[in-house]
Amino acid sequence: MNITVTLKIAKRLIESNGEAVSGQHLADELGVSRTAIWKHIKELEEKGYGIESVKKKGYRIVMLPDTLEPLGIQTGLKTKSIGREIEYVESCASTQIIAHQLAQEGAPDGTVVLTETQTAGRGRLARKWDSAANKGAWMSIILRPDVAPQKAPQFTLVTAVAVVRAIEEVTGLQPQIKWPNDILLNGKKCTGILTELQSDADGIQALIIGIGLNINQEKDDFDAEVQDIATSLKMESGEAVNRQKLVQSLLFYMELYTHMYIEEGFAMLKILWESYSTTIGQPVRARMTNQTLEGIAEGITDDGVLQLRTADGKLHGIYSADIEM
Ligand code: BTN
Repeated sequence: MNITVTLKIAKRLIESNGEAVSGQHLADELGVSRTAIWKHIKELEEKGYGIESVKKKGYRIVMLPDTLEPLGIQTGLKTKSIGREIEYVESCASTQIIAHQLAQEGAPDGTVVLTETQTAGRGRLARKWDSAANKGAWMSIILRPDVAPQKAPQFTLVTAVAVVRAIEEVTGLQPQIKWPNDILLNGKKCTGILTELQSDADGIQALIIGIGLNINQEKDDFDAEVQDIATSLKMESGEAVNRQKLVQSLLFYMELYTHMYIEEGFAMLKILWESYSTTIGQPVRARMTNQTLEGIAEGITDDGVLQLRTADGKLHGIYSADIEM
């Protein structure tokens, strides 16, 4: 079965906004027989698409599948590079592991690794990342920007802005960012970001940006130890969220903002980041490996370093810490 033709049929039916498209039309447009069209329609149905045959009119799409398979994600995807190559697996240890391997094998800029569940999902500071099956989006994006390795942390901040914009667009919820990489709704974490680097003497070979989006979980879907600090978009909005749409929107904003960052620098994105931040202007406690500092979070530098002013008036640059508010 030619997957490109299947994809084109799905795209055509989705874009016709519920109007039926005749089998003959599809056959003419795609240069295949009507029997072939019928086989591709069956293939789409097997993948969870609801397709109605309307007498004398043709085929009409009535339901999209709730999976993260490339066919659904790439249909209607509005990006040029991010998500044009998708490595999809139903289950894996961690999408970060797969993405690192693909990057080493030369996977192109914008390659996305997506899965329905992870058995060893990892978070910052070697923590475990809870990845309930078919309820979230667990993904790693491979980027190959031509920037110095010390700029890598800024990509976490750029990604955070993209995540917030996508959640806003698809759900109407208004998430906030807790420095450096937590996306919160009502004070609970709905998304985590983990940026890892492959670099050598020539600079960045690849950035592996891991994103864990809690989408349709209920409280019981989370491990007991995170139930009080984690949340999902469904728990906050009261409605199930279409995971495909959310991933498409996220990939769109990732491309928009990473290009903006590479072409114009961090200034605009810093303003956006600060506008969504729950940390800036607030009293915080920053726990680091060797010390804990308390003070007011005054802002972030152009390198994404948190500026913390302690009671003695000193300004500290925080590169990595757990922030309590
Ligand atoms: C954090 O907040 O600590 C970062 C969490 C990052 C989780 C994502 S899920 C997809 C990708 N694969 C992983 O193993 N981790 C990241």
